[in-house]
Amino acid sequence: MTTYTDGWGNDWTAASTDAVAGLQKTVLNYLGMSVETGDSLKDTFGLDPAMPMAHVLKGYFGKFFAAEKMEAMAVGALADAERVAAEGSVTPQEARHIAALAAWIRGDMEGAIAAWEAILLDHPLDVMATKLVQYCQFYLGDGTAMRNSLARVMFAWNETLPGYGFILGSYAFALEESGVYDKAEVTGRRSVEINPADAWGAHATAHVLEMQCRSAEGEAFLSALEPHWGKIHNFKHHAQWHRALFMLDLGRYQDCLAHYDAKVWTDIAGDYLDISNGVALLWRLQEEGVDVGNRWRVLADMSAARTEEHKLAFADAHFMAALLNAGDREKAETMRTSMERYSHKQETQSRITREVGLAIADAFLAIDAGKPGDAVDKLYPVREKVRLLGGSHAQRDFFDRLLVRAALSAGRHTEARHVLSERLENRPGSRWNWSRLANLEASESNAAAAAQAQARADALMAA
Ligand SMILES: [Fe+2]
Repeated sequence: MTTYTDGWGNDWTAASTDAVAGLQKTVLNYLGMSVETGDSLKDTFGLDPAMPMAHVLKGYFGKFFAAEKMEAMAVGALADAERVAAEGSVTPQEARHIAALAAWIRGDMEGAIAAWEAILLDHPLDVMATKLVQYCQFYLGDGTAMRNSLARVMFAWNETLPGYGFILGSYAFALEESGVYDKAEVTGRRSVEINPADAWGAHATAHVLEMQCRSAEGEAFLSALEPHWGKIHNFKHHAQWHRALFMLDLGRYQDCLAHYDAKVWTDIAGDYLDISNGVALLWRLQEEGVDVGNRWRVLADMSAARTEEHKLAFADAHFMAALLNAGDREKAETMRTSMERYSHKQETQSRITREVGLAIADAFLAIDAGKPGDAVDKLYPVREKVRLLGGSHAQRDFFDRLLVRAALSAGRHTEARHVLSERLENRPGSRWNWSRLANLEASESNAAAAAQAQARADALMAA
């Protein structure tokens, strides 16, 4: 079959130049996290039902859901890609994409990353390979690898290329997750300047503001961009989750709860990211003493349907938290058994479950059983491994707060002091950190130190 060239110089096996244009539009919609992504892929199939890369893309999209119900779509797309490859000829670039999809479906994220990185050596402007390395490194918790992978292809990019701003947004996020905040902010803001509807670039910038505790600025920044998110798929809930975090940081609990109902947990289809947003926000609100009513129920019901999927250890940790906070202890214990079984498999996520996922599940179970000291025993030894779960620093802060809360509840003042010391060194502008230090000092009858820490917290709330 003939190949046609896309706007980045990649040659794809296809029936026509229009089909490759359809593929490019689909990739751009994916980069823009548009609700029209699926339709543009359908249109591409309409132009060429046998296009190898369109089948691969369909498989990738199936995998992004990290859900059993979408796994069949990915497996079917891989079979179709392999079939069209066997019937005709594919380029080495396409063959590597097919191999990467196969590895990902086998649960071998490292193998998939190796295939995409091999593609990038020859084709640094292969956008899907670039984004997929970032996605999988994200769920391996390797921010430095995310940054370096993007950095290795930046030489090939310039602003005349389609989607350049989206690549800047991706790079900004990788910079932020590896702690290069100044460059991340400049890069993220540039992506939003190029396209105010670039929710990923906005999100990357919001992460910098979150990590630097610039909460009021962060809330205003996202709020100003929200009108541009009309066509963004459920990722907009996650962007709104960040706004909610800023409100929480500012002590605006009732605003935060109202925002949860109106913008975070609304129009929910049950994607793992939605559930993660919900769990992590309700837990934080509850930990601050806010009554969240029966809001856990729907999260637990959605999680209960997915206790044996084990697509991402990150998602499993949130499902477990949802079940226990809604009082579904029995289902949580069944899930723990299933996680244990899964941890013996030879998959990337089973290794992560073994190394850290089970400890987190045990910590949630211990807290639910009224034994916060046992939770500290589970969490403290793995504190440097929690990163392996993936997710962002902001998302994993949930597990860090969980450890502090458990240590304070159990009277484990030594561990609480050490973790709070670490947190205050890294984020001295965090109101929550000062507030919990005040709690610790009060528990140890250090009235002056408690008052001093509380004054720091109060000053940050007023800022
Ligand atoms: Fe985020």
